[in-house]
Amino acid sequence: RLDRIPHPPRRVPLIGDVVGTHVRTPIQDSMRIAAGLGPIFRRRAFGKEIVFVGGAELAAELADESRFAKHVGLGVANLRPVAGDGLFTAYNHEPNWQLAHDVLAPGFGREAMAGYHPLMLDVAGQLTGAWDASAAAGRAVDVPGDMTKLTLETIARTGFGHDFGSFERDFATEGPHPFVTAMVGALTYAQRLNVVPPLLSSVLLRGAQRRNAADRAFLNRTVDEVVAARRAAGGGPGDLLDRMLEVAHPETGERLTPENIRRQVITFLVAGHETTSGALSFALHYLAQDPAVLAQAREEVDRVWAGVEVPAYEQVAKLRYLRRVLDESLRLWPTAPAFAREAVADTTLGGVHPMRRGAWALVLTSVLHRDRAVWGEDPESFDPDRFAPQAVRGRPAHVFKPFGTGARACIGRQFALHEATLVLGLLVRRYDIAPEPDYRLKVTERLTLMPHGLRLRLTRR
Ligand code: HEM
Repeated sequence: RLDRIPHPPRRVPLIGDVVGTHVRTPIQDSMRIAAGLGPIFRRRAFGKEIVFVGGAELAAELADESRFAKHVGLGVANLRPVAGDGLFTAYNHEPNWQLAHDVLAPGFGREAMAGYHPLMLDVAGQLTGAWDASAAAGRAVDVPGDMTKLTLETIARTGFGHDFGSFERDFATEGPHPFVTAMVGALTYAQRLNVVPPLLSSVLLRGAQRRNAADRAFLNRTVDEVVAARRAAGGGPGDLLDRMLEVAHPETGERLTPENIRRQVITFLVAGHETTSGALSFALHYLAQDPAVLAQAREEVDRVWAGVEVPAYEQVAKLRYLRRVLDESLRLWPTAPAFAREAVADTTLGGVHPMRRGAWALVLTSVLHRDRAVWGEDPESFDPDRFAPQAVRGRPAHVFKPFGTGARACIGRQFALHEATLVLGLLVRRYDIAPEPDYRLKVTERLTLMPHGLRLRLTRR
């Protein structure tokens, strides 16, 4: 029963509402449409009708775990051939979800995180080594490219004891690491499948399908090598890979199967770096654009880390203002920009929209994060003080959801926040950061969001 849900005016038989929209920017198109249609709307494309929710009240209902659960659909479902029943893409009813969740969750506890901290510092040191050289040569740095190197190395080393050697590559002649190329290919393909009619996809995407098969094979091969190396070494430092290979479920005694481990390693290598890279890139963009915010962040780092050369684990969470900068960046550009929720039993959304069991809606996080009823009349402005304790206290629950919601929310949230806050702290302490004079934020979409072509000019302080 969709008849009370508004939709864009142009409805072309067969094709639907896609006229005038772009296959490369489905999220930003939906943001534009939401501005005209309100807190809930629907779009039809090639026979599929998708309900979008961007209003805070309806999103809070969808976050109610007694009525709704994660729905594996659209881009997430399109990743099943790559990530199978790995944590991110598993259906709620698949037993491997609970098993892997329980086995891996302690890998994100406090003790585990403190163990990753020195490795995170090492990788950050590689980044500042490269950036020092760029600063000395007066060269602008490629922010998304370098943040991707940083976050990929960080998850690979902390989680899997693997070094991709990203910082040793000469980007100009060699391009990104082939793992990154294959991953971006797989994500872009999964997004493209959403906007191509199923009947035509075998024709329209023939070349893309071939490339996708090659990308998948490359991802599998890479992961199999990482696992084989660990098995050959007879164990590691107790990281995520050791957990996957060795830890049995505390109650059932069950273990992950080799095929499932392959899916989990791909899942963590991809989910563990792409979105954090985007979050760091957007935060650096806003810091560079706003000298007052940058000055306040730097004042905090200089004060909290005074006399400290290498920050200890506990000193990262003390950077409260920098954390607000990160939160505010994730408000405007939640780098995993949507999540889907399905009804666990017949229900009525917002008291007016009946939903059968299994019916689902897509929460557009970037729209939710701009709801004027919550964020005020100027939701587009970048203001870290929106996350000052007083402001947060006055706000309802479920209005800030960059990490999703409920049992299927992001398992790597603390990992991402620790890594990103640490790196931002190190960078604002070390460099003056200036934007390129004519840069205008342009956001690219490949399931995740990234500031396109962002380059910054650095000077050592
Ligand atoms: C799930 C966002 C970093 C691993 C999710 C979901 C979101 C999200 C929105 C829920 C998706 C859904 O409901 O369909 C983010 C953002 C990150 C980030 C914005 C960085 C800023 C990480 C990191 C890791 C990670 C660092 C691993 C080290 C996962 C996994 C899931 C997940 C495994 C699936 C959890 C489950 O269903 O049990 N993430 N994530 N993420 N994330 Fe993250």
